Order: sequence, then structure tokens, then C-alpha cells
Amino acid sequence: MLMTSATVTKPPIHIRSMGEADIGEAARIVRVAFGTHIGAPDPEAFGLDRDYIGTRFRNPSVAALVAEIDGQIAGSNVATRWGGFGFFGPLTVRPDLWNSGVGQKLLSATMEIFSEWGVRDAGLFTFANSPKHAALYQKYGFWPRFLTAIMAKQVNGAGGRKGPSEAGYFSRAESEITLAECREVTDLIHEGLDVSCEIRAARDQRLGETLLVYDRATGRRVEGFAVCHCGEGTEAGKEICYVKFAAVRPSDHAAAVFTDLLDACEALAASRGLKRLEAGVSTAAIEAYRAMFDAGFRTAMQGVAMHRNNAPGWNRPGYFVLGDWR
Ligand SMILES: CC(C)(COP(=O)(O)OP(=O)(O)OC[C@H]1O[C@@H](n2cnc3c(N)ncnc32)[C@H](O)[C@@H]1OP(=O)(O)O)[C@@H](O)C(=O)NCCC(=O)NCCS
Repeated sequence: MLMTSATVTKPPIHIRSMGEADIGEAARIVRVAFGTHIGAPDPEAFGLDRDYIGTRFRNPSVAALVAEIDGQIAGSNVATRWGGFGFFGPLTVRPDLWNSGVGQKLLSATMEIFSEWGVRDAGLFTFANSPKHAALYQKYGFWPRFLTAIMAKQVNGAGGRKGPSEAGYFSRAESEITLAECREVTDLIHEGLDVSCEIRAARDQRLGETLLVYDRATGRRVEGFAVCHCGEGTEAGKEICYVKFAAVRPSDHAAAVFTDLLDACEALAASRGLKRLEAGVSTAAIEAYRAMFDAGFRTAMQGVAMHRNNAPGWNRPGYFVLGDWR
């Protein structure tokens, strides 16, 4: 029989909230999609030591979506709310279904979530060299701005160093008062920015630690903090300490606090026997980017940050902020 376009009907793409039972398949598709995109020899095994789906699914400031076709999961996306800022990812679709509209269905639903949340700003991190990715996200009002460098260094003295909480003015973020102080730091950098959900997730899910740097003179005020994931089963991966987010209170001595904070992250990694320290930084935040090189970091990979409405947000000179929105 001759098949014409009139006789071939595509099964509908259904978008719904992710449930606990979907985590395994959604995570498998994340690995296969990224593994296929970058040409990994065994895409199924790509990034097996990192967990983006389960850890984010359990974060109450996150909305996770799946796309279904004929009752099978075709892809997923995760939207995260950091106060007045929203970002999404990992967005992935089963490779056999690429370019058939699944990604766009997931993105439309994600934009509805951002509207419901009332986020003022939104962004994402993607492959800088992919015309497809840039064109796809531009349809939703996101525009490519500066590179984000994922930087890494070998940990000095892994296994032999004291943990940062023993180093005097660092401690772990525990109380609601501390959360409020961290919120004050981020709010000064970008009004409404609030990463409390990441601090809580690191503590409650035992993903890692949040390190604090206090004012040296008074020992009281939080001058900077870093949310770190440690090792396998987190966003860091095997033998890695990953700074998911860090920020320093804007001041004349912010650069020195930033250096202290990086040192604290390295001490944390060393105290846990982790070998590599990783963090993402926007090249727009030029002083922070340069300070990373001075601290011994080198770029392992780079992508581009796409910002809704091309708004610069906090990726700009003068701010000492880490975070790559992966
Ligand atoms: C990126 C990804 C999620 C997109 O999902 P998808 O289902 O293929 O996307 P869609 O089919 O909805 O949309 C793709 C669009 O890009 C277009 N496109 C494809 N190649 C293109 C190119 N080289 N230049 C411009 N546009 C291109 C398609 O034509 C389509 O647009 P159209 O519907 O207007 O024709 C999917 O490719 C994927 O899982 N990739 C691997 C993981 C990944 O990179 N995730 C995103 C990380 S930020």
C-alpha cells in the first residue's frame, strides 16, 4: 500500500510530572542522550557515577517533567527555582526521537512552570558549538551570552588535610539564621536570588556540605559560602568535589574572601579523600574567572550560558559567583 503523509499519523507526545518510578528510565535517557551527543563509546554508561535526576527530583524547589509516547518515556526536563531565578536541565530526549518535537513540548511545559513560579530571570547552560541547541532555545527567548568555563584542579594533599570546619573561620551551614545570611549574600548580588534549596539538599540528602567564610574581624557575618557535592551518586561524580554554587558578599575584599572560599573547598575535598575539585564560572565575571586560574584551576570544558531576554543577571564583572546551571 502506498503510504502518504495523510495516512502516517505520529503518536501524540504527552507531558506529565515525573514520578518516583520514572527516575531510573529518565536517568538512563540522560546518559544515552548526552553520551550519544558527545560520541561516547558506550552511551548507556556515560556519567554513571553522577546523579542529576534522583537528587533534583527530591529537591522541593524543583519541578521534573517527562514526555511520554505510547506509554514509554521519550525524554525529560528538570526546572529548578532559585528564588526569583529559574534554570532548567538536564533536558534530554531519546536519540531515536531527536528532531521530532519532543524537546519543544518539554520546553513549552517548562516555560509554563517558570510563569507559574513568577521567576523574573531564567537561564540555561548548553553546548557552545551546537547551532541546533542555540536555535532551539532562542525559540523560547533565551540568547547566548558569555562562555561558562567548567574548571578543575587536582586536590592538594588529598586524604591528609584537615576539613575546612576545623580551619577556624569556616563552618557548615546548619541553622535557619545561616540560611538567611546566605540569602542576604545572594540577594545583594542579584535581587531575589536564593539558593537555600541547594543548601538544604546538600544537607538533607547528604550530597555534600555548604562551607561558610565569616568576616575575619568579627567572626560573625557570612562573607561567602559554597555548596559542594562530594563523590559518586551526587552531581560531582567519583572522586570529585563539585562546587554547585558559591557566592561572595560584594565588598572591597571580595577577591580575598573568594580565594579563602576556594581554599576551603579544596580542604573539604582533601578531608574526604577526593582527588579533583570542579566548579563552573562565567567568563563574564572576569575577576572570578581570572582568580580561578590564579588558584590553579584550568578549564576542563566550556559551554555557553543562554539568558532569557538576554538579561545579564549576575554573570557580570565585579561579582565573585560560581555555578554553571548544568
Ligand atoms: C537537545 C535535545 C533535547 C533536543 O530535543 P529534540 O526532541 O531533538 O528537539 P525538537 O525536535 O523539539 O527541536 C529541535 C529543533 O532544532 C532544529 N534543528 C535541528 N538541527 C538544527 C541545526 N543544525 N540548526 C538549527 N536548528 C536545528 C530542528 O529542526 C527542530 O526545530 P523545528 O521543529 O522548528 O524544525 C536533544 O537533541 C537531546 O537530547 N540532545 C542530547 C542531550 C542534550 O544536548 N541536551 C541539551 C543540553 S543543554
